[in-house]
This record gives sequence, structure tokens and C-alpha cells, in this order.
Amino acid sequence: MASGDSKVYRASTTAPVNIAVVKYWGKRDSKLNLPTNSSLSVTLSQSDLRTLTTASCSASYATSPETSSDSLLLNGKPEDVTGARTQACFRELRRRRAALEAADSSLPKLSTFPLRLVSENNFPTAAGLASSAAGFAALVRAVADLYELPDSPAELSLIARQGSGSACRSLFGGYVAWREGKAEDGSDSMADQVAEAAHWPDMRALVLVASAAKKGVSSTSGMQQTVATSGLFKERIATVVPQNMARMEKAIQERDFEAFAEVTMRDSNSFHATCADTYPPIFYMNDVSRAAVRAVEAINAKAGRTVAAYTFDAGPNAVVYYLEKDSEPVVGTFNHVLGEVEGWKKEVLAGLKPTMSLDEGV
Ligand code: ADP
Ligand code: DP6
Ligand code: CO
Repeated sequence: MASGDSKVYRASTTAPVNIAVVKYWGKRDSKLNLPTNSSLSVTLSQSDLRTLTTASCSASYATSPETSSDSLLLNGKPEDVTGARTQACFRELRRRRAALEAADSSLPKLSTFPLRLVSENNFPTAAGLASSAAGFAALVRAVADLYELPDSPAELSLIARQGSGSACRSLFGGYVAWREGKAEDGSDSMADQVAEAAHWPDMRALVLVASAAKKGVSSTSGMQQTVATSGLFKERIATVVPQNMARMEKAIQERDFEAFAEVTMRDSNSFHATCADTYPPIFYMNDVSRAAVRAVEAINAKAGRTVAAYTFDAGPNAVVYYLEKDSEPVVGTFNHVLGEVEGWKKEVLAGLKPTMSLDEGV
């Protein structure tokens, strides 16, 4: 084999998680992964929670049965890449690379080589801490870097969305909206930055791990059941979310924490209410999650104003937003209150750095 044929091309990247304050829950088109509603999130610091992904490709991979087809090793275990969503990402990235190769014949034909991805999350996977968001954002960015694509974060967000909806928001730092879009082909369903992290730099997130176990119902499956069976969901889409999006964008622009906190907590409650209204019902929150809700209420009551806001994704783990100046009442009280709740103390502060700032993005 010629030496050029055995050359391995490689690119590594990290991507942050994002935790929605107005939740995406529901698909209007499951093939293109288009949402029933717009959503808005905060991107957390990747110095704390992140996915690290290395993408490589080589003509020589095609010659060995183990590497002749695309593959992904996730946290040391082979992960299926033949699903439609991962395939859609690979297909779109290859299409863009092939266009570059067609325009410049001196470029190596990377688009024709098998892809090998190795990825690691430094936080619980499939436990409601947005692993699919960081995971697919990293997958798309790693392959885009490998292929030296000139695409902007907004364009890459269109591709990441097809891997996992929430992933489109992890291409940006700070405060990020995913606009549901109107186009039938999904070409306008992408993320944009509402405000950079520096706009409201004293925002903090406390991540409380009630359980690192894999959830019983994946986000993909849970939201499909909700759309199919919940009456309450219709009301959420028609009026609750549009109102929450408008209020949330205003709260962020004005750095109004009281408003930010109220919308965040109401939207989380509304999302989990539609899960309970799904038939059969889906319960992502557990007794420990509910103790965290009460702890936030106690903290706010004691402070005499809203200093903390809870939110729960599709899992039992809490994320509590607060401002740096209120660290003492929030973090201090949380440690104290949760110390009395069985199930918290040992996992909360183990392994994960609990308090983090925001990520600036790329
Ligand atoms: P989460 O709440 O963690 O986002 P989901 O049910 O939405 O849970 O998605 C979990 C799935 O996302 C995993 O089972 C896996 O298929 C995919 N995923 C997680 N991390 C990665 C990663 N680093 N690279 C590729 N896919 C990933
Ligand atoms: C509750 O993006 O994980 O975290 O598009 O099917 O992969 P798929 O779903 P996913 O759903 C996230 C749901 C959520 C809310 C949110 O992040 O907006
Ligand atoms: Co997810």
C-alpha cells in the first residue's frame, strides 16, 4: 500500500452541555428532528462538564473488517451508529466535504473514508444532564474540523439538531435559543445566541446529582409518547411556551433574575406536568428531586426574594441557577438542607464540581 493510503487524519474537540430554561419537548417531524416549539438554554462551562470527541478517518480503515464501516466508541463501549439520526449527521458532513473535494482536486478524498469516533463524557450519560447535547455537538464539530469545513456555528447547529435536538444549542456559548422554524425541510430550525456569557457573567449553575443511572425512558421516546397522548401538551405548545420564550428573552436582555427564575421554574414544572399527563405517565423527577424543589423554595423564602431557580431535564437531577452574589445563601443552604435528605449528600458533591459558570462558546 502506498504511504499516502495509510495516513490517518484526526481532529479532537470538546463541547459543553446546555441546560434549557424553556424546554424542548416534542417533535413535529421525527425524521428531520424538528421541534414542536422553540426553546432556550444556558451553556455551562466546559471546564466542568464536557464531551471530548476525537474523529479520525483513513483510506487504510477500509481494508480491515473492524474499521471498514463508520464506528463510535462511547465511554469505552461500541455505540450503534447505524441509526437514522447519526447517519443523517455523517451524510450531511460528508456531503459538505465532498463539495470541497469537487472544487479542489488536490484535497484528499476524506469523504470516501470510513469514520472512527472515540468519545467520552466526564459526567453521567443518559441521566438527564444533556449528554446527547454535548455528545452530538462534539461529534459534529469533530468531524467538521477533520474535514476542514468552513461552516459557521449556526450552520453546524442545523446538522447537530439532526443528531439530537438539544445539541444544536451547544454550538454556542452563553444564552442560546433554538428557533423552531417554519420551513418544511428544516432549513431554518437552528440555534442562535440570545446573549453571550459576558452579558450576565455572574450567573451560576449548581448541578445536583440525585442519580447517575441511565434514565428508564429516553428523551426521544418520552417526548413522542407525550405528543401522542397528552392533552395538556397542546396547551403548553399553543400558549405556555410562546409566552415563556418572550418573557425569558426579555429577562435575559434586562438581566432580571426574578423574572428569569420564575419562568425557569414554571417552565420546568409545565414540562414535567405534561410528562405526568402522558398516558401511561412518565416520571423523571423522584422524591429527591422534589426535596430540591422545596429546598429552593425555602432558600427564596428565607432570603425574602428569589435568589435561586430550579430546573429538571428528562431525569431526576437538579440544576439550580443563581447569581454569584447569592452564593452563600444558595450553596450554603443547599448543602445543609440536602445533607438531611437521604440519597443526596453522598452523590451530590462526589466527582462533579457542583458550581459552574457559563461557557463563552467558540
Ligand atoms: P441525556 O439526558 O443525557 O441527553 P438522552 O436520552 O437525550 O439523555 O440521550 C442519551 C443518548 O445520547 C445516549 O444513549 C447516546 O446514544 C447519546 N450520547 C450521549 N453522549 C454521547 C456522545 N458523547 N457521543 C455521541 N452520542 C452520545
Ligand atoms: C428535557 O435533545 O435529548 O432536555 O432530539 O430526541 O435527542 P432528542 O431529544 P433531546 O431532548 C432534550 C429534552 C430536554 C429539554 C431541552 O433540552 O430543551
Ligand atoms: Co438529551
